[in-house]
Amino acid sequence: MKLAPSILSFDLSGLRESVPALESAGAAVLHLDVMDGQFVPPITFGDALVRSLRPLASLPFEAHLMTLTPERQFEAFAEAGCQRIIFHAEAAIHAHRHTQALRSMGLEAGLAINPSTPAEAVLSIVDEVDLVLVMTVNPGYGGQAFLPFTLEKVRRLRAARPDLTIEVDGGIAPETIRSAREAGTDLFVVGSYLAKADDLGAAFQRLEAAWSGS
Ligand code: DX5
Ligand code: ZN
Repeated sequence: MKLAPSILSFDLSGLRESVPALESAGAAVLHLDVMDGQFVPPITFGDALVRSLRPLASLPFEAHLMTLTPERQFEAFAEAGCQRIIFHAEAAIHAHRHTQALRSMGLEAGLAINPSTPAEAVLSIVDEVDLVLVMTVNPGYGGQAFLPFTLEKVRRLRAARPDLTIEVDGGIAPETIRSAREAGTDLFVVGSYLAKADDLGAAFQRLEAAWSGS
């Protein structure tokens, strides 16, 4: 099971402890939710926070840019220490140019789609991206209910590209992770379920048990 914990719902003043704890618990990658108050209503944080977190762990960082004109921030998040940058198809006039720009900077390029955006929005350039992020809630807030209809897109993408890395984001918990896995998901963003947990190790174990169906 590969988890991408999101720090969105964590107490930001406690990240000096939470980030190493997430790495020790077995996180595959740290998921950083960047919101600009335009693409989505809230404003979260920018590259300065990412730069401060970078020395706290050695796992890869991925920035999930829920921003208009995401390309304006590619360089800043790369310099802050991200290995992958995920931008939204809905916010990209030239998505292919963006993936080329990211790859030329030595980064992995991820392309995200909202629940209402069809899989076709990414299929034409799917061979030019390193990962597709299928939103399983509407972006903007942690703690929302998982939207099962979004898994149909995971199934379609998986059928079209057996080797594509597919990530889901939103509402992932022991009750939902199995269905996301069965649809073809490789990597799972988990935010509020981990932020609420008293014991991160136990929370990872409950997710793993549900993921494996045991
Ligand atoms: C939502 C963010 C998610 C969020 C997931 O806009 O992109 O990454 O942190 O949180 P949960 O797991 O609580 O749905
Ligand atoms: Zn996210």
